[in-house]
Amino acid sequence: MIKIAPSILSADFANLQRDIERISSADYVHVDVMDGLFVPNISIGIPVVQAIRPVTDLPLDVHLMIAQPARYVERFCDAGADIVTCHVEADLEENIHKALQLIHAKGRRAGIVVKPATSETALLPFLQEVDMVLVMTVEPGFGGQKFMADMMPKVRAIRALLDEQNPSCDLEVDGGIDPETAPTAIGAGANVLVAGSAVYGAADIPGRIAALRCGK
Ligand code: DX5
Ligand code: ZN
Repeated sequence: MIKIAPSILSADFANLQRDIERISSADYVHVDVMDGLFVPNISIGIPVVQAIRPVTDLPLDVHLMIAQPARYVERFCDAGADIVTCHVEADLEENIHKALQLIHAKGRRAGIVVKPATSETALLPFLQEVDMVLVMTVEPGFGGQKFMADMMPKVRAIRALLDEQNPSCDLEVDGGIDPETAPTAIGAGANVLVAGSAVYGAADIPGRIAALRCGK
């Protein structure tokens, strides 16, 4: 079953509760956290996760685009994150393992993310310990970019590795997903689709979520 994770990066931050209520037919709320160091942009952080926790029953899927994420993962869990994903490029391998362990110790789901230039081989040390793998289909940092279809061989390769090593793990894609590109990502093996501008730019948000879920 395909899950849809609208990114609130494309929501109206002055009306965030309203915009989260508008995506109640989705599966996860995707929260993009940027530190201005790991990526060249700054977005939202722990207080916003805490503020939105009471306004939705959907799991909060927190995508940490921050350097050295082990410093902060417990605080995101305490703020109400259900899934916390860390970039493999954000620290040394041993420190990323530590971040994943800290998330699990809080009883939350832990995931690992790869940027477009990072090969699936960088994920090998983590595949058996994560609950989600996230493949970026744009350069992280900004919404509204073009889907990189050339990431699909990597999605297929990771799907094959997960089928062998960790079949219940979610495989998420993020960036440029819309009703045109969703079937490509699903065909390559993704089962969770992040979409920011395609959801919040739609006149009929529940209709757009349904269309993305069907891959139409
Ligand atoms: C980019 C973020 C994405 C972004 C997706 O750094 O990780 O989640 O908001 O936006 P769209 O769907 O507009 O590409
Ligand atoms: Zn994201």
